Amino acid sequence: MNAPVHPALELVSVTAGYGDNPIVHDFSARLLPGSITTLIGGNGAGKSTLLRAIYGTNRFFSGQIVFKGETIEGLPPWERLKRGVGFVPQGRCNFPAMSVAENLKMGCYTLPAARHAGAIDRLVGSFPMLRQKWSIDAGNLSGGEQQILEMAMVLLVEPTLLLLDEPSLGLSPKMQGDVFATVQRIAASGVTVLIVEQNVRGALLISDRALVMEQGRKFMEGPAAEVRTDPRIRQAYLGGNIQHTAA
Ligand SMILES: Nc1ncnc2c1ncn2[C@@H]1O[C@H](COP(=O)(O)OP(=O)(O)OP(=O)(O)O)[C@@H](O)[C@H]1O
Ligand SMILES: [Mg+2]
Repeated sequence: MNAPVHPALELVSVTAGYGDNPIVHDFSARLLPGSITTLIGGNGAGKSTLLRAIYGTNRFFSGQIVFKGETIEGLPPWERLKRGVGFVPQGRCNFPAMSVAENLKMGCYTLPAARHAGAIDRLVGSFPMLRQKWSIDAGNLSGGEQQILEMAMVLLVEPTLLLLDEPSLGLSPKMQGDVFATVQRIAASGVTVLIVEQNVRGALLISDRALVMEQGRKFMEGPAAEVRTDPRIRQAYLGGNIQHTAA
């Protein structure tokens, strides 16, 4: 018999929000190592709030976040990052007036100085675009290139879990495709990915599983291919008239 696969991340009845207001309620989920899970929900449902709770940048009310077999909900974000939780928040999060090279150096801030050059070399080997744009200010990259730079800045510290909040927002269809292909490549290297995406169809196509959130609560979960064909999901998030075989 195969040994049981332990989840890379387990959320147990997580309730989190801001100030005195819980926004996400009693949310539970298990993410298997190297899998891609998409978190679907309408505007204001609480998707970003859940990602922030996993990274530790908002108020945690109750529940457990189990990462690599240990509870991390009491740890500050930098400690979670050190243990392997990487987070690329919603919106642009590079240093636009600094070059690609300088941005990558900033991404190394939690690593000992002796590891910076090696970490950057490794990343640039995987993302040759970064080498090509080495001296260009990040703010002058295309939106898709900036998104890939932002993922690379987090990947420098070799996280085993990557939380991505709306990585394709505002990008052309071609650039969205580049970002999705990059996310697939990251997961294929063994990193577990939890992604929130406005392009629900595109995200479901690259995902193994999907979680659906409504008003801060889990509404549905399952294999991405099943969620994609669920009539309620098609109606609410996929324009209501998507073929089962739609790419
Ligand atoms: N820093 C904050 N302080 C207080 N309330 C907040 C804060 N950030 C978000 N909220 C509230 O939490 C709720 C959920 O917001 P959240 O950003 O998690 O939604 P979302 O699902 O990510 O939406 P979107 O698809 O628009 O990004 C909203 O009612 C929002 O007003
Ligand atoms: Mg959001």
